[in-house]
Amino acid sequence: MKIAIGSDHRGFEAKERVKSLLTELGMEVIDHGARSRDSCDYPDLAILVARDVAEDRAQRGVLICGTGLGMSITANKVPGVRAALCHDELTAQFSRRHNDANVLCLAGDLVGDALIRRMVQVWLQTDFEGGRHARRLSKISDFEQHQRNGRPSGGAASG
Ligand code: RB5
Repeated sequence: MKIAIGSDHRGFEAKERVKSLLTELGMEVIDHGARSRDSCDYPDLAILVARDVAEDRAQRGVLICGTGLGMSITANKVPGVRAALCHDELTAQFSRRHNDANVLCLAGDLVGDALIRRMVQVWLQTDFEGGRHARRLSKISDFEQHQRNGRPSGGAASG
């Protein structure tokens, strides 16, 4: 599996460790940076990773900033991306089972290395359950499609 990764300066060390883990697991990694602890802006990295996933250059993405918040807010602006900010193994697992999350966002400042390792592993190993969850995801992608076409969406159909 090909995985795009990115971080800002606050997520740099955690991103380097995630990169080693992914390589250990036999994944192909596209690393967009950061390359150091020098200050940078999380939207730049989030957009690169999210677009790799949305445009199928990578099957999944992992984004890390201090809290994970900026990365998740930005990545979810890219149509087709379902970025999940997770803080434990359970949310990582459910983000796959119920939400088919294709980007995992992590808080480099708040979550320890061992937990990040376990979260990444469970997130990669867990399949989407489909069924009623697929119906719900279709509502999200329908909404995105309508937004792109500049038409109103949501609620009961009229006319
Ligand atoms: C950078 O100072 C910090 O705001 C960023 O890493 C992240 O936590 C934003 O959501």
